[in-house]
Amino acid sequence: MTDPIQDATVAYDVIDGIAWVRFNRPDKRNCMSPRLNRRMMEVLDELEYRDDVGVLVLSGEGTAWSAGMDLKEYFRENEVKGLGATRGAQREAYGWWRRLRWYHKPTIAMVNGWCFGGGYGPLFGCDLAFAAEEAQFGLSEINWGILPGGGASKVIAELTGFRNAMYHAMMGENISGKKAAEWGLVNEAVPLDGLKARVEEVAKVLQAKNPVALKATKDAIRRVREMTYDNAEDYLIRAQEAANSYDNEGRKEGIKQFIDDKTYKPGLGAYDKSKHNA
Ligand code: ACO
Repeated sequence: MTDPIQDATVAYDVIDGIAWVRFNRPDKRNCMSPRLNRRMMEVLDELEYRDDVGVLVLSGEGTAWSAGMDLKEYFRENEVKGLGATRGAQREAYGWWRRLRWYHKPTIAMVNGWCFGGGYGPLFGCDLAFAAEEAQFGLSEINWGILPGGGASKVIAELTGFRNAMYHAMMGENISGKKAAEWGLVNEAVPLDGLKARVEEVAKVLQAKNPVALKATKDAIRRVREMTYDNAEDYLIRAQEAANSYDNEGRKEGIKQFIDDKTYKPGLGAYDKSKHNA
């Protein structure tokens, strides 16, 4: 049984290898309702292994990226139903953020506007993040009386320094996209009218790389942050050897095009993967 209201909460198009996925509740500033969370998981499922999708970009329709959790549908309406409903709604939200963190394709958050609270979950879930300078980021939880849960405290502590994280979480003041880039919440901030072009440029670069190596790389960067140096060294050997079993030829072609064919330099760009796929 499909639910047309639920289906409409997320929009997407696949164009030239890029899946442009959008939070699609602009009249509610794209806040995350249980329906949206359910639909987002379905959309991630639909897109993850499609051959015509190389990169996934997550943005928002209208003036918001996401105004965080839906205070009415996610919090209030579940609370009256009891703990089971609350835990169920949490599982759905956290579930798709986790899915995003370990997604098979590279992911980019394109933060076009408001980004609050629970929105930090998918923000961190994406591998890269680009924001409009005009965007506003806030941990507004303290402003309505809760702590930054759903991973938001973890996200701010992971992405920025201790003093910034404390100030941001305790004061409930917003920061601009520009400041978010200075703090490390996003890679870069650019004016809103140039945001899509910049993200497209980055997505095109990613599309030209070896996809097996990209998945292994993005997982490695997330995993090693919590490992000792020795554990990381060992993990990286195993991860590369596992990746070799999926793509035994790619790296050999990469070496060949540099050492034998002299058609590129790895220090200056990627090898032509179409040659070994052909
Ligand atoms: N939950 C529920 N409804 C929301 C949310 C939200 N997080 N954000 C916006 N809406 C609704 C508004 O209630 C309003 O609904 P209505 O048209 O039925 O009255 C509609 O979206 C539009 O919102 P406005 O406030 O009118 O939009 P405006 O552009 O003036 O302001 C802003 C945007 C600043 C984002 C404001 O909507 C806001 O403060 N939203 C809440 C942000 C927030 O604190 N989110 C929770 C973070 S904590 C967490 O996620 C756990």
